[in-house]
Amino acid sequence: MRIRCFALGDLKSVFDLASFALKERYTPTLFINLQSYWPEGFIVIEDVGRIRGFILGVTVSSIQARILMLAIGEGLRRMGYGTMLYRQFCMECAKKGIRYLTLEVRKSNLTALMFYEKMGFQITGEIQRYYTDGEDAYRMHAFL
Ligand SMILES: CC(C)(COP(=O)(O)OP(=O)(O)OC[C@H]1O[C@@H](n2cnc3c(N)ncnc32)[C@H](O)[C@@H]1OP(=O)(O)O)[C@@H](O)C(=O)NCCC(=O)NCCS
Repeated sequence: MRIRCFALGDLKSVFDLASFALKERYTPTLFINLQSYWPEGFIVIEDVGRIRGFILGVTVSSIQARILMLAIGEGLRRMGYGTMLYRQFCMECAKKGIRYLTLEVRKSNLTALMFYEKMGFQITGEIQRYYTDGEDAYRMHAFL
């Protein structure tokens, strides 16, 4: 098992995983563009040559980053992979001096809410109709 930065060869696996697990419509170009902003903020977990999960964040300012996506393959959840990816992401943030993290999560996504609460996030507000299917989001934040 290996945690490393996203590489172009991971694009199909990451795109498929994101589209399935996050229930949003993405284009492959989005991932390539986001990677170019901050390659160290786009991290995958690979096991026997297969992508098991990924986390993708962007920097918002010199001290703030935003997690845009985090997904672990179905059947591989609750095994600590999400925690490993998040911790690696935090290490990359720390190297850049980032102290503050934000993210949005579907109100109905109780699993993700419990995950992020375990990681130390708190709900700071709501965003109406944040997702393309009209669902509202909770906005969450954490201090590193
Ligand atoms: C949210 C997600 C990334 C968590 O990844 P994971 O690898 O399953 O999480 P971990 O195994 O590292 O779990 C860490 C902690 O989170 C909490 N947690 C995770 N899944 C949970 C569940 N189904 N029910 C309750 N708590 C849960 C627990 O506190 C867990 O610690 P524990 O197992 O010691 O009790 C994963 O469920 C996923 O990919 N979901 C679909 C995509 C998604 O919703 N992404 C987030 C969008 S913002």
